[in-house]
Amino acid sequence: MCGIVGYVGSNDAIDVLLNGLSGLEYRGYDSAGVALANGTLAVHKREGELAALESTLPTAELRGRSNGIGHTRWSTHGPPSDANAHPHTDDEGRVAVVHNGIIENYQSLRDELTADGVTFESETDTEVVPHLIGRALEEGMAPETAFRAAIDRIEGSYAVAAVFAGSETIHAARRASPLVLGIGDDGYYLASDAPAFIEYTDRVVYLEDGEFARLSPEEVVVTDSSGTVVEPSVETIEWDAEDAGKSGYDHYMLKEIHEQPTALRQCLRGRVDELTGTVTLEELDALESSSPVQFVACGTSYHAALFGATLLRDRGVPAQSFLASEYSTDRIPVDSSTLVVGVTQSGETADTMRALREANRAGAETVAVTNVVGSSAARECDHALYIRAGPEIGVAATKTFASQQVALTLLACRLSDGSNHDVIRTLRDVPDQVQTVLDTSQATEIAAEYAESDAFFFIGRGYQYPVALEGALKLKEISYRHAEGFAAGELKHGPLALVTEETPVFALVTGDDERAHKTVSNVKEVEARDAPVVAVTDGQTDVERYADHVLEVPASNEIGAAVTANVQLQLVAYWVAHRLGRSIDKPRHLAKSVTVE
Ligand code: F6R
Repeated sequence: MCGIVGYVGSNDAIDVLLNGLSGLEYRGYDSAGVALANGTLAVHKREGELAALESTLPTAELRGRSNGIGHTRWSTHGPPSDANAHPHTDDEGRVAVVHNGIIENYQSLRDELTADGVTFESETDTEVVPHLIGRALEEGMAPETAFRAAIDRIEGSYAVAAVFAGSETIHAARRASPLVLGIGDDGYYLASDAPAFIEYTDRVVYLEDGEFARLSPEEVVVTDSSGTVVEPSVETIEWDAEDAGKSGYDHYMLKEIHEQPTALRQCLRGRVDELTGTVTLEELDALESSSPVQFVACGTSYHAALFGATLLRDRGVPAQSFLASEYSTDRIPVDSSTLVVGVTQSGETADTMRALREANRAGAETVAVTNVVGSSAARECDHALYIRAGPEIGVAATKTFASQQVALTLLACRLSDGSNHDVIRTLRDVPDQVQTVLDTSQATEIAAEYAESDAFFFIGRGYQYPVALEGALKLKEISYRHAEGFAAGELKHGPLALVTEETPVFALVTGDDERAHKTVSNVKEVEARDAPVVAVTDGQTDVERYADHVLEVPASNEIGAAVTANVQLQLVAYWVAHRLGRSIDKPRHLAKSVTVE
């Protein structure tokens, strides 16, 4: 996830662009840059947060220019650096481009352009675009035709904007990455998200997939992929600048819960081929050892690790997960055939870092499964597998957990033999199924019913056991209510003593196998003790008969159901905390990245 912004109009473009980028920093903050046009192109970009760019920008010199584009980056190809920051230009400085998304065929385009004598300045996928445009200009095409010709060559997801030296026009296009246009009295705007320009205008046009836009001082023209002019539908945004970074949601956490379908698509993009059943993880091309696998992680990431280890064991690969703070190579056998996988959203968690360093010292091959390109874990490990969830601002991990589940499923396919067709089909459907849960969930009603309860219990088996643990963790950290997750079979070995009519039990019952039916028996034990039961189910068993409430998830296999059931529990946690008036994005005593042991 990155943020792009563009402006043409009667104000100083540089001021509008910098304002816009600060409204988009939630989308990425590992580098930022701007390009001003209508004269020779002035391109300034810098690694680090927007403040780093601003501190070196000759802002006064840049005033007086009427159009430009800007970018705030969340790395996917190439670590954060000045060179990898956007905008990118062609060899001759004729065009500058910003991009959000992933260009899947960038390697073959890069090879083709390199063979043509083009020199690349960065490691990004984006840089192929200005070079393709530059080549088209050399062939005699006008800027707009050159832009369209370049976009026609790229595959994957993109929201792209380009400015040309000496021109006041901005060209833009989108496919599977967001792009919204702003219609103001003082000019026209474009951005990945309306917060970038909401203080100037609330009139917007959401560009559709495959559409192009041309923004000039006089007009905005939208065209479809064949070049036919499309009448844009102008909408009015109902929220104001204050809500902006959260796109109208009350909290980042809720926004991030709703971003999950996009995050999961981004995690899968370019990595699975449904036709051949292949999973390709370029980052792990050089991976050698595969067994046994030891996962190390903390908190929510540990729950994802439990899920990953279950998956690997089911596919015949010996695997265990360890709380990173309990991991020690003095007591756990590790050698050069061991693969140690650190699962860490931030890539900075001290406990996980220590475990990975020990594993490296003991000669294991190491992989970081992380969201942050260039993070400490990514640098410490032999390999890094990126989950591509985009920045997560809420302290409680939500979209990164779902993306970890999907990334670890891909890792399991990569590390095991056998057919991946079924898994790939499941993963293909998961983003839409998560959307269905988001659209239909009854979690607010459940929260209203039980927010004042003494304690909450969560039970699940197999793939749903880590989800039970995660459901409890999410609830306790943001609502401050007592919550525990258990393997469903364990309830009768002790915790059942805590179950009363004041303690709702959330039972995760999906599928129709032995595990699901045994969990139904555990639900009956709970029901017999008068505890309210909320079944999270796909309806394949008769658990509904014993439940007071049902939270539905779409029918899938155990992998898909573990992702969607977790989304229901995220929503329950959120709405309970909301009712109790908690500080949801910044819960007491907690930090997003825990860098002490
Ligand atoms: C819970 C949560 C924490 C983190 C844990 C590990 O919502 O966010 O439990 O999962 O601190 O953090 P990472 O994944 O950054 O290593």
